[in-house]
Amino acid sequence: MTKLWTLLLLYGLSLVEARVLPSHASPVSARAVQSANYDFVIVGGGPSGLVLADRLTEDPKVTVLVIEAGPFDQGEDGVRVPGAWNPVPYFWPGLVTEPLTALNGRAEQVVVGKVVGGGTTINAMNILRATTADFAAWVSLGNGGWGWNDMLPFFKKGENFTAPDPAFAASNNISWDDSVRGHGGPLQYSYSNYNYPGSGQWWSAGLSVGLKPVHDPSSGVNTGLFWVPTVLDTKTQTRCSARVAHYDSVKTRPNYHVLAEHQVAKVLFKGTRATGVQYLGSSGGNTSTVFASKEVILAAGALHTPQILQLSGVGPEKLLKSLGIPVVAKLPGVGTNFQDHASIVVQYNFSNIITPNAGSLATNATYAAEQRALYDSHQPSAFTVVRGLGSTFGALSFKDLANASASIISNAKTRDAAASLPADEDRTVVAGYKAQREILVQQLQNPDMAVSVTAWDTFSSVMVAVLKPFSRGKITIKSTDVRVEPKLDYRTATDPSDLPILTATLRKLRQIMSAPAMAALGTNEAAPLGAHVQSDEDFETVLRASLGASSAHQCCSAPMMPLKMGGVVDPKHNVYGVTGLRIADVSTFPMAVSGGPTANVYAVAEKVADIVKKTYKLA
Ligand SMILES: Cc1cc2nc3c(=O)[nH]c(=O)nc-3n(C[C@H](O)[C@H](O)[C@H](O)COP(=O)(O)OP(=O)(O)OC[C@H]3O[C@@H](n4cnc5c(N)ncnc54)[C@H](O)[C@@H]3O)c2cc1C
Ligand SMILES: *[C@@H]1O[C@H](CO)[C@@H](O)[C@H](O)[C@H]1NC(C)=O
Ligand SMILES: *[C@@H]1O[C@H](CO)[C@@H](O)[C@H](O)[C@H]1NC(C)=O
Ligand SMILES: *[C@@H]1O[C@H](CO)[C@@H](O)[C@H](O)[C@H]1NC(C)=O
Ligand SMILES: *[C@@H]1O[C@H](CO)[C@@H](O)[C@H](O)[C@H]1NC(C)=O
Ligand SMILES: *[C@@H]1O[C@H](CO)[C@@H](O)[C@H](O)[C@H]1NC(C)=O
Ligand SMILES: *[C@@H]1O[C@H](CO)[C@@H](O)[C@H](O)[C@H]1NC(C)=O
Repeated sequence: MTKLWTLLLLYGLSLVEARVLPSHASPVSARAVQSANYDFVIVGGGPSGLVLADRLTEDPKVTVLVIEAGPFDQGEDGVRVPGAWNPVPYFWPGLVTEPLTALNGRAEQVVVGKVVGGGTTINAMNILRATTADFAAWVSLGNGGWGWNDMLPFFKKGENFTAPDPAFAASNNISWDDSVRGHGGPLQYSYSNYNYPGSGQWWSAGLSVGLKPVHDPSSGVNTGLFWVPTVLDTKTQTRCSARVAHYDSVKTRPNYHVLAEHQVAKVLFKGTRATGVQYLGSSGGNTSTVFASKEVILAAGALHTPQILQLSGVGPEKLLKSLGIPVVAKLPGVGTNFQDHASIVVQYNFSNIITPNAGSLATNATYAAEQRALYDSHQPSAFTVVRGLGSTFGALSFKDLANASASIISNAKTRDAAASLPADEDRTVVAGYKAQREILVQQLQNPDMAVSVTAWDTFSSVMVAVLKPFSRGKITIKSTDVRVEPKLDYRTATDPSDLPILTATLRKLRQIMSAPAMAALGTNEAAPLGAHVQSDEDFETVLRASLGASSAHQCCSAPMMPLKMGGVVDPKHNVYGVTGLRIADVSTFPMAVSGGPTANVYAVAEKVADIVKKTYKLA
């Protein structure tokens, strides 16, 4: 950066700012940003942050800075090529759960992205919308304007669906309703163009135990069997991340800046008005500040958005006082209501396994080379399938589960809400959770609501996850230093409803795997299940030993709900009790959704961007 640039900024000549900003939207250096003023400062460059930055900079008069803790990816195969998927280099290091008291006191590593694009640069590429019933729940929790019909235009706005080859679709049971799919947005998505041959056995087995094919899981109902759409750009056969869709595609804008490898330490306030942020280099170094003349927008994800709020003096009063943080706004809900999709992987061995399958890229070098050559010449290839995964899901309503007794529902109905939360939880938080439990009980009785999901990788394992957890975790800082990770108190399965629902799902899985179409493969159920696991108690023992706390679907820790229900943001995503501060990310979901978060993160962020643009009458 030139001396002139620095001088102009140091003297706060914001009028000339637009002219002296770099001539295209480059990653900027810390020095360039120092003391600068932007209209909006966005904290976190994941999908929510980059959607906001992209949409707000559509107005050339508006200046936006995104501060992202992680680096830019290098376009390596592990990121771009689905069949070479390797997310590990971009995992946020050092995240571990508190001891999981309902899971034998185990602690687990927790995974989120630390890279421009956030989770979407490294995730499993599944792009699955929540359903009519999910959004109806958001509305009934006090969020007018967030129902399915309100969301559908924002789902469509962000995306560009490319239909698969018709013959391939027909022979592989891929179906969709084109009228609910978007076609003009920047997020490219489609389906893998290759299917492992054993896949049809699982589909047939599912049908034979009563599951129905879903015509389009993105149309508001997803209970049954379906192919999962994936963020595959069919032109390049590569991953379309938020970085690709919402940064690379608009990089020429001079008003859109990304400062990578810097971590926001806290939001700065003047009274209760957010004025900017303090940040530091991710690999150490001194702190700097940058100011936002209109708003600071938090998009740091479900673990770090509540952390930043608490560090900034917005959160539970007792916590802030215990760390000597001056209270800007007492907000008991910050960090509460934390959820994820707990999941378990069941191993199988097959005496008659069909090859190739999702294991073959790793085990058969000839096959891998052959498929890579096809991929490189843009022909259908196993490299368009995310490594190690299959392409179909079975999403199960409570009614679909096997031998799920009605007592699960009646027990859930009569349980005291406060008993499922940490001791001494604020009464507003208890009130919000009580309302959520009533909704969960209704959802268990709704045949159109998926409460769990299962998927076979076509090789050696089946994943089962709970989609509608009753248990609630909590995120709390333990230091005033942003580099000390907050306490991730997952509290997985601490509510007594979650394990019985998983047990009934595992029993359903057993039915699927022993149906003739799967039995033909010589199925042997292996660890952590097996023939010795029969009674409810046996299943619960297995789950306590082997259930994973996370599917990397962390959410809901700064929920959009009324203040008197422990909410953190209002339906316009303004943080309660302060001004000039919004949240745009997955932490604002009031309840975990019956699909992966990503499609919904994009749509929520599109809607928040629309609200912000209207608020400031932006072009
Ligand atoms: C391995 C993996 C697989 C997944 N698979 C799927 C899938 O197949 N389908 C699906 O729907 N979902 C999946 N997910 C989840 C999905 O990617 C996330 O729900 C989604 O990315 C959340 O978006 P977000 O914008 O709210 O937060 P994030 O994507 O987490 O982005 C937050 C960003 O903020 C940055 N940040 C945090 N703190 C700070 C700070 N103090 N200063 C500056 N920057 C900060 C982080 O580095 C990160 O880049 C997966 C996630 C992972 C990690
Ligand atoms: C949508 O995808 C089609 C087919 O791949 C492509 O031709 C078109 O340019 C894309 N549109 C946008 C807005 O990206
Ligand atoms: C498609 O569905 C039919 C039954 O309708 C089933 O026989 C077949 O195996 C399925 N194929 C795949 C690839 O799912
Ligand atoms: C840190 O401070 C030093 C000395 O004042 C300065 O040279 C450097 O640019 C600063 N770094 C950042 C990231 O502000
Ligand atoms: C490995 O892949 C090649 C090429 O597809 C195939 O001919 C061969 O049978 C495979 N080997 C095994 C052991 O599956
Ligand atoms: C359901 O319960 C019945 C009666 O106890 C039993 O015969 C059957 O095997 C059970 N099914 C599953 C899938 O557990
Ligand atoms: C496969 O499962 C059967 C039955 O549980 C078991 O006897 C066998 O040892 C297993 N084989 C392998 C390779 O794990």
